[in-house]
Amino acid sequence: MQALEQKILTEGIVLSDNVLKVDAFLNHQIDPVLMQKIGKEFAARFKDQGITKIITIEASGIAPAVMAGLELGVPVIFARKYQSLTLKDDLYRAKVYSFTKQTESTIAISNKHIHSTDNVLIIDDFLANGQAALGLADLIHQANANIVGIGIVIEKSFQTGREFLIEKGYRVESLARIQSLNDGKVTFVQE
Ligand code: G4P
Repeated sequence: MQALEQKILTEGIVLSDNVLKVDAFLNHQIDPVLMQKIGKEFAARFKDQGITKIITIEASGIAPAVMAGLELGVPVIFARKYQSLTLKDDLYRAKVYSFTKQTESTIAISNKHIHSTDNVLIIDDFLANGQAALGLADLIHQANANIVGIGIVIEKSFQTGREFLIEKGYRVESLARIQSLNDGKVTFVQE
C-alpha cells in the first residue's frame, strides 16, 4: 500500500535492525486520514468473505481495526491485556508470549461478543513473530467461530510471523512488508 510505505519512509524511525518506531502515525499519535485509507484497503482485500466481526488487541490495533469495521459495516472487538473493572463476564482467555519484550501476558474477550456463527477477521498493527495473532486466533477458536484471515498494517518480513501463521493455515494480508531495517534504512519486499 503506497501511502503507508511513503509514510513509513518519511515519518518512521529505525531504532535498530529489528525495531521500527511509528509513533508519529500509528503507535502514539494517530493519522486518521491514513487510518481511513488502511481501513478501505483491508475492506477491499477481505470483501465478499462474509465477515461478521473484526477482532484486534489493545492498544495499537484498535485504530486500523475500527476503520476496517466502518468500511465493512461490522463490529470491532479488542482483546484486553489488562484486567478490566467492568469486564466480569465469562471470558475466553489466551496466553501471549512476546519474544520482542520477553514477557507473557494474558489476553481476554467476553464470550458475549463472539459466537460460533461468526466469520472473523483479525487485525493488528505489527507482525513480528505472530504470537499476538496466534493468541487472538486461540480466543476465536474457543468460541468455535471461523477465522477468515489476518490483516496486518506493518509486517516485518525478516521475522518469522508470516511463515508461522501461513503454516497454520491462515490467510495473511499485510499492507506494508518490510524486508530489512539494516543500516538504519527501511526496504520493502518487492511484490
Ligand atoms: P508478535 O505478536 O508478532 O509475536 O510480536 P511481538 O511479541 O514481537 O510484539 C510485541 C509488541 O511489540 C506488540 O505491541 C507489537 O505491536 C510491538 N512491536 C513488535 N515489533 C515492533 C516494531 O518494530 N515497532 C513497533 N513500533 N512495535 C513493534 P504491544 O506490546 O501489543 O503494544 P501496543 O499495541 O499497545 O502498542
